[in-house]
Amino acid sequence: MKSLAALLVTAASVAAVVFALTTYVGQPVEAATQAAAQKARLEHGRYLVHQLGLCIDCHSPRDQKGAFLEDKHLTGSPLPFAPTVPMPFVPVAPKIAGLPAGYTAADMTHFLMTGERPNGRPAVLPPMPPYRLDRRDAEAVTAYLQSLAPAAK
Ligand code: HEC
Repeated sequence: MKSLAALLVTAASVAAVVFALTTYVGQPVEAATQAAAQKARLEHGRYLVHQLGLCIDCHSPRDQKGAFLEDKHLTGSPLPFAPTVPMPFVPVAPKIAGLPAGYTAADMTHFLMTGERPNGRPAVLPPMPPYRLDRRDAEAVTAYLQSLAPAAK
């Protein structure tokens, strides 16, 4: 009988330790998984902004020789080109680092997926390309732009 009681006590202790360990270890593992997912999202967003959408070509200011001002990426810029025929054309690309003025993250994702701006503002004009990204890409671009907010640097 004594040995059965001892066995039960041991089993209970083991269960308690296992419970404590999974609870304790589970949290950092979950946090690490989320951190890895966010890192991957930011890298994908950076790729879309710099390599695919080429947002920087229009939205990043340049010096007199046309070289990018590296610490001012995506802070808005007058466009260094103009159309050769009459057409709708907006000659300045606004700041989008840290998200454009008046946009929430949800607004930005929605805009990239539909072209619809917040507060019922009219659609953007050329030369802003009318992107229609899927949700994954739109959220990645949004997360990347958000990460460029001065406070987040
Ligand atoms: C060929 C030049 C060009 C490229 C490339 C470009 N943009 Fe633009 N973008 C503009 C211009 C010009 C405007 C202003 C259009 C207007 O006001 O109608 C604009 C407007 C915007 C707006 C609207 C801001 C507001 O206040 O409503 C957002 C958001 C935006 N761009 C994001 C992006 C993103 C993100 C990318 C890359 C995925 C990108 N743009 C690529 C030229 C460009």
